[in-house]
Amino acid sequence: MTSRPEAEQETTPSAVSPAQDQTVKGTNTRKVFVRTYGCQMNVYDSERMTDVLAPEGFEATDDMEDADLVILNTCHIREKAAEKVYSELGRIRKVKQERARHGKDMMVGVAGCVAQAEGEEISRRAPIVDLVVGPQSYHQLPGLLSKVRNGNKVVETEFDIDAKFDHLSARAERPVMKRPPAAFLTVQEGCDKFCTFCVVPYTRGAEVSRSVEQIVAEAERMAAAGVREVTLLGQNVNAYHGEAKDGSIWGLGRLLRRLADIDGLDRLRYTTSHPRDMDDDLILAHRDLKSLMPYLHLPVQSGSDKILKSMNRRHTRDEYFRLIDRIREAAPDIALSGDFIVGFPDETDQDFADTMDLIRRVEYGSAFSFKYSQRPGTPGATMDNQVPEDVKSARLAELQALISGQQKAFNASRRGMVCDVLLEKKGRNPGQIVGKSPWLQPVQLDAAEDLIGSIQAVEIVEIGSNSLFGQLIAGQDDHANPGLPRLRSKGDVI
Ligand code: 5AD
Ligand code: SF4
Repeated sequence: MTSRPEAEQETTPSAVSPAQDQTVKGTNTRKVFVRTYGCQMNVYDSERMTDVLAPEGFEATDDMEDADLVILNTCHIREKAAEKVYSELGRIRKVKQERARHGKDMMVGVAGCVAQAEGEEISRRAPIVDLVVGPQSYHQLPGLLSKVRNGNKVVETEFDIDAKFDHLSARAERPVMKRPPAAFLTVQEGCDKFCTFCVVPYTRGAEVSRSVEQIVAEAERMAAAGVREVTLLGQNVNAYHGEAKDGSIWGLGRLLRRLADIDGLDRLRYTTSHPRDMDDDLILAHRDLKSLMPYLHLPVQSGSDKILKSMNRRHTRDEYFRLIDRIREAAPDIALSGDFIVGFPDETDQDFADTMDLIRRVEYGSAFSFKYSQRPGTPGATMDNQVPEDVKSARLAELQALISGQQKAFNASRRGMVCDVLLEKKGRNPGQIVGKSPWLQPVQLDAAEDLIGSIQAVEIVEIGSNSLFGQLIAGQDDHANPGLPRLRSKGDVI
């Protein structure tokens, strides 16, 4: 299961914020601009790229025109992904020409899944590209860039994920500096599921898990740097099977239990999961761990057994219902999220009605939905009975209306509750802070800036279309109340 694709929700790609640590300042500082497309795995990878480049004298910038190095960290999950990258490269060419007029150079790199899929084709079609680097090779960036500086065009798309993780773990040795309160940590990459619509097994390769030791070291380092909430990432994160020091293999549930012991890590999340890999230990972790937040992204894609089978999802709708029942038994207040694809080949009105019925029965807190798009090289692309575009559009609109109603109802059900909110950053208006509820909803409230990074008891007083509005409950002490979501009614202050 791929991580939730932010770009697919029409968010514009954003520059990654400057690396918080390990930045070498000095007269030789060069600037790197990284634009990130797609899922949280890419956000994590972009941060790691800036980390790896910091000892080389690179500092992150939000301004492309100011950059000595521009990297596009691309996503390949949806149609026309490569075309979008080529048109962005056209715009970058103009920036590069403008810099050249002022005697300044600019190196251009393409990273991520489009780099992996297109390889050399990229520098052939876009000669301004100096470097093409696949997701498993970011640790090699300094060496690759020095080859570029020597006048070479470089393409590096080998799958050597162990080396990448080994290198990332070396970060743990470096000095601790402040980081934002919520951060991602990749624990697993790649996927062996081969859903018939999906390119991930081809672009990210086979499933590989990092060792328990590496992950614990990185999480401890994050906690020491002020991180309060860690989201464990993986394309199929709950298939995690990492080796511990004694040679035993740990699943995600056991890993979460270990991470919950780390002082200062008050909130844990993970994404994205496959229903088949939701084992008892992981389900019970939701019951047992107060720091495991009550939110689960568990895509089902379709509610029709026929379509699930031809998608190679490896479970039926009834199995999914039974799973949801078990999860809700362990964590009654959990917010469920999912991904849906409409218009997969041979999806009839009845198949679509089965999906709508599944959604009505499960009741999601939120969900992502997509029109099926044919991805070259995947089995779905050549299946018979492709569904016409207008039918897909109509089904998507109907499905999104249903989900949107469920999301509104879920959000409205929080009104009057007091819950713990992790305050993450300044809001748009002066005096406003934005945080996150246990159920992953943004919460806006008026609070002093120095509370950023703390977890506060907040009463939810109003419900907006995308976020909740809250008020601090006076006298609550962050440390006395770690990330536990407290479900109390108004006025019921502990
Ligand atoms: N067409 C439409 N949606 C897709 N997804 C993945 N591949 C495709 C495709 N070919 C969606 C799935 C997945 C999410 C990350 O993107 O719903 O869970
Ligand atoms: Fe997720 Fe299936 Fe793609 Fe794997 S193949 S990343 S399980 S959608």
